Amino acid sequence: MPVEVIEKNLDGNYDTHFYAGQDETGEDGVLRIAKDYREKVAYPDFLPSWDPRQKYPPIKFHKYEDPGLRADPNFPNLLNGKATLKPLTPKIGTKITGIQLTQLSDAAKDELALLIAQRGIVIFENQDFIDKGPGYAEEYGKHFGKLHIHQTSGAPEGYPHLHVTFRRPDRTEFGRVFSDKVTSTGFHTDVSYELQPASYTFFAQLEGPESGGDTLFADTIEAFDRLSPHFQDYLSTLHVIHSSKEQANNSKSQGGIQRRAPVTHIHPLIRVHPVLKKKSIYVNRSFSRKIVELKTPESNVLLDFLYNLVENSHDLQLRAKWEPRTVAVWDNRRLQHSASVDWEDAVTRHNVRITPHGERPVEDLKFYNDPTYYPHKDEDEEINVGGFRPKF
Ligand SMILES: [Fe+2]
Repeated sequence: MPVEVIEKNLDGNYDTHFYAGQDETGEDGVLRIAKDYREKVAYPDFLPSWDPRQKYPPIKFHKYEDPGLRADPNFPNLLNGKATLKPLTPKIGTKITGIQLTQLSDAAKDELALLIAQRGIVIFENQDFIDKGPGYAEEYGKHFGKLHIHQTSGAPEGYPHLHVTFRRPDRTEFGRVFSDKVTSTGFHTDVSYELQPASYTFFAQLEGPESGGDTLFADTIEAFDRLSPHFQDYLSTLHVIHSSKEQANNSKSQGGIQRRAPVTHIHPLIRVHPVLKKKSIYVNRSFSRKIVELKTPESNVLLDFLYNLVENSHDLQLRAKWEPRTVAVWDNRRLQHSASVDWEDAVTRHNVRITPHGERPVEDLKFYNDPTYYPHKDEDEEINVGGFRPKF
């Protein structure tokens, strides 16, 4: 199989990349969505652009302070006598009505983080959040952690910390998605290849189809709990290589940019959540590549089993529907998610994501925020360990 086909299968997320031949390159070298589309959108300030002059150094380790650990567990500031909570499934998901995100105090934001950790995802409808513009969204997200800058995706001009997904109102958009696939389903956790991947992640819909374009979420804590204790113990000894290389090449092949050199990091296969103190399965089909301790055929079988467990267990999943001005916030450490490209009309689907870094994933909380933590003894110089030496 040609390399580009393999890479397309691994991360063919065409909603985040520049597409040469359909989008435009300005005289300043900045890549933008074509003028025809720019003139039709409801929120032009949030349109994606790709500036090839943006170059960032490797992301270094930083201490992460989880806002959920600061929260009052009774949620007095978040609920404030006005909010109503409705569970969306018994396992995960809560819808909050009666409050605006824009009215939350810092204490209420901490409590929101705790609620997101506990329920996996919290959904707010009819919010004025996006009406405040990209600068507001960026500032808001900083409360939850240092914001991630994506290596390749589109961002509003001047706001590199925001990640925009934009499906053009064009039938060819669907053709690209299915050109070498039989389904748009692709479960993953965002940027798991980073040293400190995403934690509390905001995703707001600006525009979208009347129906369709739902996002599927799956709970990897519940998936772990389904396994037998003996198997859980074995999995808890393993570590996994995650890579951003294929996503970077996928962007490049479409004429896109690369803001940072691709990275490879090793994370524990089973990570422990710092707020919940619970274990979850931390592998995903988009970015996990190999279990370090196993031979490739063994690793493939085991990873496939875990992917299938998470993806096929509808009794630990939730299907989120979007309206313009819906904002969902989920914990990327415990939930996997997948887009679904299932609508027929040539309409714009436009969303913005805010992606705070979380802690470096650890198999034991004794390593939480420990800059000397190294999850596996490996002499392979290809592996970027974030500048840290093994402690063994
Ligand atoms: Fe994603």
